[in-house]
Amino acid sequence: MQVDHLGIAVRSLADALGRYEPVVGGHGSPPENVESQGVRVTFLEAGESHLEFLEPLRPDSAVGRFLEKRGEGIHHLAFRVPDVAKALDNVRSHGGRLIDEAPRIGARGRTVGFAHPASFHGVLVEFVGAPK
Ligand code: CO
Repeated sequence: MQVDHLGIAVRSLADALGRYEPVVGGHGSPPENVESQGVRVTFLEAGESHLEFLEPLRPDSAVGRFLEKRGEGIHHLAFRVPDVAKALDNVRSHGGRLIDEAPRIGARGRTVGFAHPASFHGVLVEFVGAPK
């Protein structure tokens, strides 16, 4: 299973790109607001994978609360899958807890679904559909 991206919670996308771009190379994608999640995101290519930087739009968003509690850092791990619904079903059928019971549309217009960190040894796991 290919790692699609690693999500990193930051206070400022501009500050994060200023640090990461010269080291990783390339440029972050134009920032995109994902209103349903209360975040603004940008993606930076890293080989066959990406880094996703997440800046909260509101302090009471999931990422806002994450920053408040734990500070900046790695927020989630995303796997690219052919079928997000199937990936979620697979977690469920193996006794894992889900955050999303069904797939929804996330950043970049891609289908996404999250599984609970309690079921993945403290790691918030995202499944993301292939790009169209
Ligand atoms: Co993500």
